[in-house]
Amino acid sequence: MAGLFTPYTLKGTTLRNRIAVSPMCQYMAQDGLINEWHRAHYAGLARGGAGLVVVEATAVSPEGRITWADLGLWNDAQAEALRPVVADIRAAGAVPGIQIGHAGRKASANRPWEGDDHIPEGQPNSWRTIAPSPLAFGPGLERVPQEMTTDDIARVQGDTVAAVIRARDLGFEWLELHMAHGYLAQNFFSPISNHRTDAYGGSAENRARYLFETLKAVRAVWPEDRPLTVRLSVVEFDGNDAMLGEAITLLRRMKAEGLDFVDVSIGFNTPEAKIPWGPNFLADTAAQVRRETGLPGATSWYISDAREADALVRDGKIDLVMLGRPLLSDPHWPYHAAKTLEVENPAWATLPPPYAHWLARYR
Ligand SMILES: Cc1cc2nc3c(=O)[nH]c(=O)nc-3n(C[C@H](O)[C@H](O)[C@H](O)COP(=O)(O)O)c2cc1C
Repeated sequence: MAGLFTPYTLKGTTLRNRIAVSPMCQYMAQDGLINEWHRAHYAGLARGGAGLVVVEATAVSPEGRITWADLGLWNDAQAEALRPVVADIRAAGAVPGIQIGHAGRKASANRPWEGDDHIPEGQPNSWRTIAPSPLAFGPGLERVPQEMTTDDIARVQGDTVAAVIRARDLGFEWLELHMAHGYLAQNFFSPISNHRTDAYGGSAENRARYLFETLKAVRAVWPEDRPLTVRLSVVEFDGNDAMLGEAITLLRRMKAEGLDFVDVSIGFNTPEAKIPWGPNFLADTAAQVRRETGLPGATSWYISDAREADALVRDGKIDLVMLGRPLLSDPHWPYHAAKTLEVENPAWATLPPPYAHWLARYR
């Protein structure tokens, strides 16, 4: 039975363990360019022993950034700047992954520690937002986006494919399309933010069209032997019980088109949600998605205890644990988990030699 420290192979990629660094925006870029902050951050996380490091939400176009300080991959200079990060992650023994997305109606916001709210149009670091329908998110994110035309839809899909090609050519081995958290793809999928009456709105199949088409377009350029994954919101916790079934149907269709893996997450598409926060609270939903779609999968959200994380993998609920804040708190979480789980030679199983050599002798 596989546990947290059993290697994981998907397509041509093998992770040294089942611990993944969940994508986490740093909001520290200028003009979408990675810099020293990101290099140190990602190298540190990779050296901490995770099997997979997924680089934060990276925007396909300037207007697709959540904040002005997000990473981007809409030009070659941004790609060149990212190249050392791919090398650093790989040199530390982890697999380099990246999340690609567009922020939709939540774009043009202040950084979280500077308010997390929309910057009014016309002010520095703000831009016009776009989404399927001219509907604002709500308090804090009150700007009404411009309704996308079908040309806009095709343009963003083209931008996504172009960003994916850059990620492919940089050698990222794991691609996660961001289709969650109230950003553009989720704006299409959810009836809360999609009131369109054309082929991209209305029925569940129509609301899924943008996501499905994007996946197909990306599949055509992403190498067959590298995992193609999505982060999909499957629950909103707002009383919309149809969403989980719609998500499972969409994932089955995506699987038939070549989707390899799903990272199960939450909608964050309405301020009305009542989210039942608690340890591992999304794991059973992830397990249901995994079972009913036949896709391998992962989830995150308040998974922080090594024994519980190991049990989620051993029980076959998820294939990987995607950790966020536990790794900000302790980038060497995998080493401590290996000790807790009595993995043989825990330091050497997780850390690079300049750390492992000393810690293996230190009690
Ligand atoms: C600083 C920070 C930035 C985040 N940025 C992203 C992101 O870029 N993309 C994404 O899908 N989720 C993002 N998230 C959510 C995390 O990937 C993760 O799912 C969440 O923190 C829950 O896991 P945890 O309980 O282990 O922290 C972010 C979370 C944090 C704390």
